[in-house]
Amino acid sequence: MLSLLVALGLVTLVRTQGAIPCGTPSVQPITTRIVGGVESAANSWPYVTLVVDDLGYIAGSATILNEHVLVTSAQHFEGPGYSIFDVDITHWRVYAGEHNIHTKDPNERYYHIARVVLHPGYNYSSLENDIALIITRERMQFNVHVSGACLPDSTHQYTVGQKCYLPGWGSTAASGNEEVLNQVDLPILADDICTHHWPDFLPATEICAGYENGTKDFCADDIGSPLLCKDQSGQWYIMGIASSGGNCKLHDEPGVFEDVTKYSDWVKKTMEDAGFPYQP
Ligand SMILES: *[C@@H]1O[C@H](CO)[C@@H](O)[C@H](O)[C@H]1NC(C)=O
Ligand SMILES: *[C@@H]1O[C@H](CO)[C@@H](O)[C@H](O)[C@H]1NC(C)=O
Repeated sequence: MLSLLVALGLVTLVRTQGAIPCGTPSVQPITTRIVGGVESAANSWPYVTLVVDDLGYIAGSATILNEHVLVTSAQHFEGPGYSIFDVDITHWRVYAGEHNIHTKDPNERYYHIARVVLHPGYNYSSLENDIALIITRERMQFNVHVSGACLPDSTHQYTVGQKCYLPGWGSTAASGNEEVLNQVDLPILADDICTHHWPDFLPATEICAGYENGTKDFCADDIGSPLLCKDQSGQWYIMGIASSGGNCKLHDEPGVFEDVTKYSDWVKKTMEDAGFPYQP
């Protein structure tokens, strides 16, 4: 009996050591003060993947939550004149461990999309509830270059002024290099700043972040990219999903992000229903 317990204990121990806790990158992201966007350190955002459509075009990016589930914006899949229900989503791919989109990176690997679940309240005119989950056909292999971001629960706090990061393959950075994963630091702003710039801003379910008076912004290509914030625990949480406001040519308006804390119950329920429950 004792030896059985010891054996079980060992199995548990090995399992725990094998699992990669959410939001803990092996390669540390660059968080020193830099003016303007910057190329990210390769694989320092191991949760961020590139989504490529059936014709090989970049659809955007999505964030890994576990080995089978990613979260992104719903507008990648449905909008005025297009719908995932009209395309064969099974030919779409997500590239994990990706850094430079034009070269085959040593750590990159692609997986097929099995299906996409749009938020039932998504409205492409108002961009209300602009959030969707991607379920992959194959199990994504987690390693030091590929792992999940932490999903905040509904009580998770963020504070105005907190500096968060948006990694993306759009022209996020002023670096001009759109082939590699760039990043930009964006502070969380008070809701009324976004309400002032965007009359249709929805403070109940959206976060305002970025700059009001022109320094940095994200671009339209970065829609669906995560707003990642480091918790006191040192782990990286996906607090927002870029939904609108990205106009990197103007740089004078803040960005609008879906507030993931407001959707975490839906995300968890949907993951559970899909057979891949969220585990932090
Ligand atoms: C979607 O948003 C548009 C624009 O705000 C609104 O006119 C329409 O009624 C909304 N549709 C639904 C189903 O809520
Ligand atoms: C932007 O500029 C306006 C007008 O000068 C000012 O009221 C506001 O506080 C500034 N906002 C930020 C975030 O610096």
